[in-house]
Amino acid sequence: MLFVTVTTLSACLFAILQSSLSFATVMDGFDYIIVGGGTAGLTVANRLTELPDIKVAVIEAGDKVFDNPNVTTPELFTVTLGTSIDWQYESTPQTYAGGKTIACSAGKALGGMTWVRGEKSQIDAWGAIGNKGWSWDELLPYYKKSENFTVPSAAQLEAGASYHPSDHGESGPLKTGYPFGLQNGSLHETVATAWGSLGMPPILDANGGHVRGFTVWQSTVDRDANIREDAARAFYYPFQDRPNLYIFLNTTANRIVWSDASEDAVAEGVEITSSYGIVSVIRASREVIISAGSYRSPTILELSGIGNPSILETFGISNIVDLPSVGENLMDQPNNVLIYNSSTIFNGTTSYVAYGNTTDFDMELPSDDDLSVWAEKVAAANDNAVNASSLEYLFKVQSDLIRYVPNAESIFSTGKTFGYPPSVIIATAFWLLMPFSRGSVHINSSDPLAYPTINPNYFTVDYDLKTQAAIAKWTRSFWMTSGMRDLATEISPGYDILPGNATDAQYAEWVKTTFSSNSHPLGTAAMMPRELGGVVDSSLKVYGTKNVRVVDASVMPFQMSGHLTATIYAIAEKAADLIKADIK
Ligand SMILES: Cc1cc2nc3c(=O)[nH]c(=O)nc-3n(C[C@H](O)[C@H](O)[C@H](O)COP(=O)(O)OP(=O)(O)OC[C@H]3O[C@@H](n4cnc5c(N)ncnc54)[C@H](O)[C@@H]3O)c2cc1C
Ligand SMILES: *[C@@H]1O[C@H](CO)[C@@H](O)[C@H](O)[C@H]1NC(C)=O
Ligand SMILES: *[C@@H]1O[C@H](CO)[C@@H](O)[C@H](O)[C@H]1NC(C)=O
Ligand SMILES: *[C@@H]1O[C@H](CO)[C@@H](O)[C@H](O)[C@H]1NC(C)=O
Ligand SMILES: *[C@@H]1O[C@H](CO)[C@@H](O)[C@H](O)[C@H]1NC(C)=O
Ligand SMILES: *[C@@H]1O[C@H](CO)[C@@H](O)[C@H](O)[C@H]1NC(C)=O
Ligand SMILES: *[C@@H]1O[C@H](CO)[C@@H](O)[C@H](O)[C@H]1NC(C)=O
Ligand SMILES: *[C@@H]1O[C@H](CO)[C@@H](O)[C@H](O)[C@H]1NC(C)=O
Ligand SMILES: *[C@@H]1O[C@H](CO)[C@@H](O)[C@H](O)[C@H]1NC(C)=O
Ligand SMILES: *[C@@H]1O[C@H](CO)[C@@H](O)[C@H](O)[C@H]1NC(C)=O
Ligand SMILES: *[C@@H]1O[C@H](CO)[C@@H](O)[C@H](O)[C@H]1NC(C)=O
Repeated sequence: MLFVTVTTLSACLFAILQSSLSFATVMDGFDYIIVGGGTAGLTVANRLTELPDIKVAVIEAGDKVFDNPNVTTPELFTVTLGTSIDWQYESTPQTYAGGKTIACSAGKALGGMTWVRGEKSQIDAWGAIGNKGWSWDELLPYYKKSENFTVPSAAQLEAGASYHPSDHGESGPLKTGYPFGLQNGSLHETVATAWGSLGMPPILDANGGHVRGFTVWQSTVDRDANIREDAARAFYYPFQDRPNLYIFLNTTANRIVWSDASEDAVAEGVEITSSYGIVSVIRASREVIISAGSYRSPTILELSGIGNPSILETFGISNIVDLPSVGENLMDQPNNVLIYNSSTIFNGTTSYVAYGNTTDFDMELPSDDDLSVWAEKVAAANDNAVNASSLEYLFKVQSDLIRYVPNAESIFSTGKTFGYPPSVIIATAFWLLMPFSRGSVHINSSDPLAYPTINPNYFTVDYDLKTQAAIAKWTRSFWMTSGMRDLATEISPGYDILPGNATDAQYAEWVKTTFSSNSHPLGTAAMMPRELGGVVDSSLKVYGTKNVRVVDASVMPFQMSGHLTATIYAIAEKAADLIKADIK
């Protein structure tokens, strides 16, 4: 997710790099190197360079996209998919989903939007599994520190926006609030009434730590400029003249270079490849911070010799730290869509969302016996890199959570919400929030430019499929309320393909054949005790290293009943404080 203009000095360094005749140029003088200028990376870079004596280099594979309308237009969620600013990864054939492959998108230059933190107890669970210093109360100040909430206008309040002032910060760099083009008129009331008839109460502010019910979601958006807010707009462009911040664009980080590769390995820099194919090393006197996202941070560790010895050996990489959990615990959510046709043309954005718990969508809760069976199955499906007893413990924590946190999200959108011209089309996308299935991401080559092997292992645990099917049925029951029936008719999948009286098995089959990735991968360098399958400790430091941290979605040990960026910004804010505290 990056998109940056080059500072004069970094442009200069860049030019030196490109014109270098030698195969290896060494650059000294940085205190920190951050790999990845995405959501987390730019946040950390910004906070560290508040200290004028601290020099930071950010290495980003993508380019700046400052004025690409696909990025700046708040409604354009999807047009970037498949373009040069999407990495366009693809999963392996999914054994438990009919063998099909799934497109795995990841920003090589795109920004955030939906801004929902999740449930208080989900962050508290991070502390409960052994991460000292991590709880909702300890993270809340960082959620607030990142944001500058725009109080809704009278027209927005009329259109369904609502908020609770004490849940928000108003002096952070990241603009949040409601979109400029929020749909006016009666649609909000019609949709709220329909969800209300299914027992979903209105939520005043979904960012207060509880999300169950129906609400209009808040976004990362500069409302008055009507521009999507992202990490570059908030944390980089306004600060790009800082002389102690350098950004290398179109530059791939290959691997960490070690000055001491014995126990408690010490990183001295990062090997990079420029867009011209020139390989060099950049040095950092203090730390290397990996923020390349859930699909790449673990593979950079593997290329650097940190990971499962048997995987490293396959690719001839010598093992610096024996850490078999690197790249494991990959959790993504499955997403399905129902599309409707109305007789009314809608010209506004509808960021409407319902969060339901298992009672709401009529699903049973897992038993303890289920958990041990699932742990065995998930461990086996991932070569036992994280063993069944660790997984069973984690599943127990997760199963306790879904006894009271929502496990379903169903969003409601007009075509305009996705950037289409005003139209009669409206749709709901929905997903299971906390899947038990876990997969992995690993290197597939010793070439750092090669794509990783991504295997989310969707639906390894049948309960996930049944849950997604139950959520489909629940979302359809919303469309079957009288208010929604009067408003719209289903055009996809349509009642001929999925009848109104479809069985649970028919719903499951439809889910399995039509789902896509929800683009919320996390957990691949999880913050957990090492014995449980963790990769980083509670200061986000990689086990077995002195000065390498991971700061991004990879460290999140559980899924959220929210969207990831809100929490990633908060993690990055806290990480910056942890790093600064070590400077003295
Ligand atoms: C289409 C789509 C829609 C989404 N919508 C939302 C939403 O509405 N709300 C929400 O909260 N979340 C959303 N997400 C998820 C959200 O974007 C991610 O969870 C979040 O950006 C992850 O942040 P990160 O810091 O972990 O990684 P990223 O922001 O992905 O940053 C990683 C960066 O590292 C760079 N990089 C990777 N490998 C290398 C390398 N080897 N060398 C140098 N640079 C490298 C990448 O180019 C990227 O810029 C969406 C994701 C997608 C794909
Ligand atoms: C915007 O997205 C469209 C559709 O994917 C693509 O054709 C176009 O090239 C993109 N524009 C830019 C500036 O990237
Ligand atoms: C917050 O945003 C408002 C405009 O929405 C702006 O006037 C104000 O200066 C911003 N505050 C900070 C601290 O950036
Ligand atoms: C990055 O690469 C693209 C595509 O090759 C190029 O158009 C752009 O100018 C490059 N940007 C920088 C800063 O080198
Ligand atoms: C959508 O609705 C319009 C107007 O009611 C109708 O003309 C059109 O045929 C419908 N389209 C589909 C695909 O059902
Ligand atoms: C949307 O339609 C309404 C009602 O027709 C109109 O008042 C409003 O100006 C339109 N808004 C936009 C952004 O086109
Ligand atoms: C909603 O109304 C406000 C105030 O009249 C207007 O500025 C805004 O453009 C309208 N939004 C839409 C989507 O019509
Ligand atoms: C769902 O929420 C309702 C209302 O708070 C509550 O009564 C019920 O126990 C919840 N069920 C679960 C499984 O969380
Ligand atoms: C992994 O590498 C093999 C052999 O080079 C190749 O055939 C395969 O397509 C690669 N897989 C991925 C996911 O890139
Ligand atoms: C659904 O209804 C159709 C006719 O309306 C009937 O043929 C079919 O058997 C029913 N299916 C189930 C699962 O009840
Ligand atoms: C599972 O792994 C953990 C950490 O590696 C270890 O402490 C535990 O003994 C293992 N349990 C089994 C049953 O192998």
